[in-house]
Amino acid sequence: MKLLIDDANIERIKHICEFYPIDGVTTNPSILAKEGRNPYLVLKEIREFIGPDAELHAQVISLTAEEMVKEGRHMVEILGEKAKTFIKIPTIPEGLKAMRMLSREGYKVTATAIYNPLQAYLAAKSGADYAAPYINRIDNLGSNGIQVARTMQDIFVSSGYKTRILAASFKNSLQVQELCESGIRAVTVAPDVIEGLIKHPCVDSADVTFVHDFENLCGEGKTMLNCEPNK
Ligand code: G3P
Repeated sequence: MKLLIDDANIERIKHICEFYPIDGVTTNPSILAKEGRNPYLVLKEIREFIGPDAELHAQVISLTAEEMVKEGRHMVEILGEKAKTFIKIPTIPEGLKAMRMLSREGYKVTATAIYNPLQAYLAAKSGADYAAPYINRIDNLGSNGIQVARTMQDIFVSSGYKTRILAASFKNSLQVQELCESGIRAVTVAPDVIEGLIKHPCVDSADVTFVHDFENLCGEGKTMLNCEPNK
């Protein structure tokens, strides 16, 4: 399962990439707005840091198909890396039309704001490379985000669509784990939730105990690198 960062803050992105195996970065207009800077400067900075092989997803703002298409083409022109720059398009009727047009032109398309499996079905038929269900937001509507993603996957597999799921909107580790178990192809997760994937008091205390026991044996500050091998 691919793991992407759902954020546009370059310092947080750098920090997460230092420690975690990351496949790319996703943004949306609200995430970019939090940076309070020119969105292209932010996106170009992210691209420069993650390199040409990582995925970068950025969303159109327009609400008509023709404008979405123009905007998408322009974004890729500015950001480059056509094979790894995904144009995020909301899965509304105008969006479906734009997805068809852009995918025919060879652009990478991520169908976003998906709340039910039939939106995903329509996005897949419209040529989207990824379909992004909003797991936590679906849960908050009283439905089951994980189940929606699984149903989407069943539709894609049974109909032979090439579209992959890029699940978004997470608030906890269990949501990510359940999708991992289900063979979902990609998730995009905010930095604090990524860090939560590995956080556990038992892991921390085991680490402290191991260091403590080893230092009792070999002395303070000693590791397998600097303890005496011949005594
Ligand atoms: O791109 C969609 C995703 O960022 C939504 O996440 O946490 O705002 O529900 P959230």
